[in-house]
Amino acid sequence: AALLFNPQKSPLISSLGFAILAFISTYTLIPLLGDAFIKAGFKGKDLNKLGTPVIPETMGAVTAFVYLACMLLFIPFAFYHHFAALTSGGGNREVEIEIHPADEGFFHPFPHNKLGEYLSAILSLQSMIMLGVADDLFDIRWRHKLFMPLLAAIPILAVYYVDFGVTHVVVPMQLRQWLGDLVDLGWLYYAYMAALTIFCTNSINILAGVNGIEAGQSLIIALFVVGNDIPYLVKPLHPAHDSHLLSLYFMAPFVGVTLGLLKWNWFPARVFVGDTYCYFAGMTFAVVGILGHFSKTLLLFFIPQILNFLYSSPQLFGIVENPRHRLPRLNPKTGKLEQSRVKFTKTPKGMTVLLLELLQKLGMVTIVHGEKGEIVEATNLTIINLILVRLGPMREDILALTIMGVQVLCCSLGLLIRYNFAYLIYEW
Ligand code: UD1
Ligand code: MG
Repeated sequence: AALLFNPQKSPLISSLGFAILAFISTYTLIPLLGDAFIKAGFKGKDLNKLGTPVIPETMGAVTAFVYLACMLLFIPFAFYHHFAALTSGGGNREVEIEIHPADEGFFHPFPHNKLGEYLSAILSLQSMIMLGVADDLFDIRWRHKLFMPLLAAIPILAVYYVDFGVTHVVVPMQLRQWLGDLVDLGWLYYAYMAALTIFCTNSINILAGVNGIEAGQSLIIALFVVGNDIPYLVKPLHPAHDSHLLSLYFMAPFVGVTLGLLKWNWFPARVFVGDTYCYFAGMTFAVVGILGHFSKTLLLFFIPQILNFLYSSPQLFGIVENPRHRLPRLNPKTGKLEQSRVKFTKTPKGMTVLLLELLQKLGMVTIVHGEKGEIVEATNLTIINLILVRLGPMREDILALTIMGVQVLCCSLGLLIRYNFAYLIYEW
């Protein structure tokens, strides 16, 4: 309660207000705009329904625009105290405002660095959203779209350079006798952050193809980020207080818009989220992870996405053929989803055969052989298919719930690692 009624914390209340507004706007706008989107060509076939009905796609654009509107409208609220400090009392700028010890230095002079962080985050998100819409419009090639987040990341990386410029990392205790306490990664650290933006955006986009899972996994990750922020917010003197406050400002409306979208994207989907949403969601996470200095913790919330990426890598990097769609497929007789297979257009040879046989021994792929013993089909390498191989065919919504369950378990495990085992390698 002290947190909520502390006048210094009022932006937090406005932020929650914007989260609710974000939810209501997304929830009402999406069904209203559906037809217009179909007319404009933003549509897709729901491949796992009988008769493959066509529904609006790229609803992530509506979601992202509502989000941006909320974040822009929030600027005066976030910086209200500082504006007030600047205008009250004429020349004497910091009169009449009771400054909390934690906010000393934050109040005077005007915190241009905070505004810079906030605006750069918005600029990065805006760029990513634009590129996402372009992808939904033109279906940009995989190897090209992989690099789009790099461009969008430049604003936050520039602000990171100016504001923090911290490129050294704390060395795990076991390695200190060789490396020392800190290692300066220099430009490699920027490469790491750029790679993080590519990973966050694309990994959500490839854990997809079942109604509700792009938005569902993002919602769960966002709730865990918020859960991780809250303990820092009640400790105003904690050095990470401000970073987690910034994170909450970006996460609260994100949870709002995502809930509104999920309502319409959940089975049986009335709309698709589009690549726009996946990029927007991934970039929002990367932005808060980078500006909030908790990218390692963030990665602990991405365990299912990391596993899916590693497992997919033979197909992503062309060792095993990658079809246009790897989503599970409907068995019309049972109404359940089954694992999907890639039908090889070229008979696999050499390394591909070795890899597929190894994965088969590990129970991670099933192979179909042709008459001459050659490989003609193999199951697609996604954890969605793996779940179906292991647990058997499932109805689409049960599969979506199972994937959400895996996400919650992995995020909980991530928190456990962060707060219980990190001491094994760091003295946090
Ligand atoms: C990624 C995956 C692809 C998967 C696709 C499904 C990789 C490398 N790419 O491609 O294998 O098939 O996502 O989203 O892993 N769709 C459904 N039901 C859904 C969601 C999507 O039928 O619940 C279909 C619709 O036809 C929709 C299309 O997938 O129009 C969207 O695919 P898109 O997002 O463009 O695929 P990618 O992101 O390129
Ligand atoms: Mg996609």
